[in-house]
Amino acid sequence: MIVIIGSVNMDLVLRVPRMPLPGETLAGEKFMTIPGGKGANQAVACARLAAPGTSVAMVACVGDDAFGGQMRQSITACGIDDRYIDEVAGEATGIASIMVDANAQNSIVIAAGANGRLDVERIERARPVIEQASIVLLQLEVPMETVIHSIELAHALGKTVVLNPAPAQALPRALLQKIDYLILNEIEAAMLAEEQSEDIPLLAQKLHGLGARNVVVTLGEKGVYGSFADGQQRHLPARKVQAVDTTAAGDTFIGGFIGAIAQGRDQFDAIAYAQAAAALSVTRVGAQTSIPTRDEVVL
Ligand code: RIB
Ligand code: NA
Repeated sequence: MIVIIGSVNMDLVLRVPRMPLPGETLAGEKFMTIPGGKGANQAVACARLAAPGTSVAMVACVGDDAFGGQMRQSITACGIDDRYIDEVAGEATGIASIMVDANAQNSIVIAAGANGRLDVERIERARPVIEQASIVLLQLEVPMETVIHSIELAHALGKTVVLNPAPAQALPRALLQKIDYLILNEIEAAMLAEEQSEDIPLLAQKLHGLGARNVVVTLGEKGVYGSFADGQQRHLPARKVQAVDTTAAGDTFIGGFIGAIAQGRDQFDAIAYAQAAAALSVTRVGAQTSIPTRDEVVL
């Protein structure tokens, strides 16, 4: 079982011809509400992309508003176990306000809402499902204290711990020693390695030095660099696609990669599969609406 401990956001998406300037009012195009949140997106990506029969559970909080119900619906529709998605009374479901411009670039502002209420106590209550997991996957859209506690718990239970340290934030240094797979972009890699460098192999080496066993750096249209505990390192180029909306491309990659790793596939095969899934997601609008199923992914 794969357990995701993380955020749930309703994405409030506005297509714009270009990003507005400070003080400017701009006419946008279509407005859409689309299920998102890094945690929920990665859970959905695991459910759609892992081998049939792989169970996926999510530990999260939603508010007692309409978005909370819609988000739960989007998550359970993929067969994800939602028993540990708590509805917090008097709280708003997390939202992300997203603008996507004509070049498929996005800018995102998040209001955590109920995600901020995923505390250590709720993680302790979710222990039964965490104990059943083989892989525990986290991001940084829930309180840092919760992330630290969850990683320590999962590591102590002997689980494979995967961290996507996004959005970029500093972490307690010692935490990286408990991470089996660190999956991150180049900005996050530079931040955690405490090194302003564009030399990805160097950043990966620094991250290994800090304790991360396996490091996978996603480089957008420049591909993916994987550096693994068995000493194998390789850069895999990205396939060229017509980008429509890159929202959740990273989340799709992570779900595809973890789904393949859960199945015991070779780490570079897992990267190639995840890249193919992410490439498809970029050609489609929105977060969870853009994540393909395993049948759609052609290598
Ligand atoms: O990674 C993409 C996600 O980041 C969006 O769905 C949005 O909710 C933000 O959390
Ligand atoms: Na997309």
